[in-house]
Amino acid sequence: MLRSSLQRLTVFISTQVRRLVRGLGNWLVGSPRLKPWFYPPLKIETPAEKYRQFNEYYFADLHEQERMLGDAPRMAFYHEAIRRHIKPGQRVIDLGTGTGILAAYASRQGASQVHAIDHSTIIEHAKELAAHNGIENVQFEDLHSTDFKPAEQVDVILHEQIGDFLFDEAMVPNVCDLRDRLLKPGGLILPSRFELFCEPVTLHDDRRMPFIWELTDVHGFDYSSMERSRPQNPEYYRLSSCDLALVKHFVGEPSPVVEVDLNTVTEDALASAIVYSREVQHAGMVDGLVVFMQAKVDDDLVLSSSPLDPGRAPHWGFRILRLEQSWVEVGEVLDVTLSVEDWTDPDTWRWTCVKRER
Ligand SMILES: C[S@@+](CC[C@H](N)C(=O)[O-])C[C@H]1O[C@@H](n2cnc3c(N)ncnc32)[C@H](O)[C@@H]1O
Repeated sequence: MLRSSLQRLTVFISTQVRRLVRGLGNWLVGSPRLKPWFYPPLKIETPAEKYRQFNEYYFADLHEQERMLGDAPRMAFYHEAIRRHIKPGQRVIDLGTGTGILAAYASRQGASQVHAIDHSTIIEHAKELAAHNGIENVQFEDLHSTDFKPAEQVDVILHEQIGDFLFDEAMVPNVCDLRDRLLKPGGLILPSRFELFCEPVTLHDDRRMPFIWELTDVHGFDYSSMERSRPQNPEYYRLSSCDLALVKHFVGEPSPVVEVDLNTVTEDALASAIVYSREVQHAGMVDGLVVFMQAKVDDDLVLSSSPLDPGRAPHWGFRILRLEQSWVEVGEVLDVTLSVEDWTDPDTWRWTCVKRER
């Protein structure tokens, strides 16, 4: 009896408190002078600012770091690149150090000082890990690279800012900013040469995924009327996979559609419209355009995310820009256009692929 009275009293008090708080909130919102104090107007963020916030949060997650560290071809590529190209006594920036692994490799290679920069809280683990591994000459900088202002210029900018779409982790603006402010003339950017591919592909029959309105006979059930409900969100038109069993073959001979050298590139130098053709070498269904990258340090030191490369670095997804299915025969030609408003934002990519006789 006593217990239930107490419960009723508690419920009564909490209801009154909630009412009071709600009333106070409404009063504040209704008062033009007090409202901005308590509810400052939301800052309008640019897409670059929004991406920066996302990146900072995303890489704080140990799972993301594990995926990268568990990618054996990626780690072997960077370890070898640093072994070959970083010389004792050099001053190095590790842009986006994550767990500090590349900074540690540079330090062990004899760098005189390594500035390991990261804007994510992962840098706290990097500091502990460096101490645990006896790495001494790495200076950790808990900030965004654009805010980094050291006293002296450096010999090397080391980075891994490679997205599935190559440019979608803001590699070009971030590296260009450091290069133009802080790299000694003749200094090294590691890695600096990149290629982006966007190849028409055929998927394996059992893995094909047509648009829903292309399914006109699922055991007698017709989805063609769904064409009227085509989704408007750009991500619907892309697929992501790391699976080597997905792509059957490239339709033509792959060739890079963008080549970038970070020593010379400027952000606005990337073309916003790319037009290219592929002569069909394998008859079959064209399911989409597969996007992947290659990073080159030396002719024999290449990192690839190609879906048909058994040695691909597996944690990078390759992306498929979906196309309505079309059958092609050997000797026909596919004319492809790719237009891009902002290379860092795949939602702004648009594409077409049209078949013609040679
Ligand atoms: C792809 S991870 C690479 C981590 C590490 N270098 C490695 O190879 O394992 C990229 C890292 O860069 C950081 N990052 C991205 N852009 C940055 C920027 N402009 N300034 C500072 N840190 C940045 C992220 O927080 C993330 O930890």
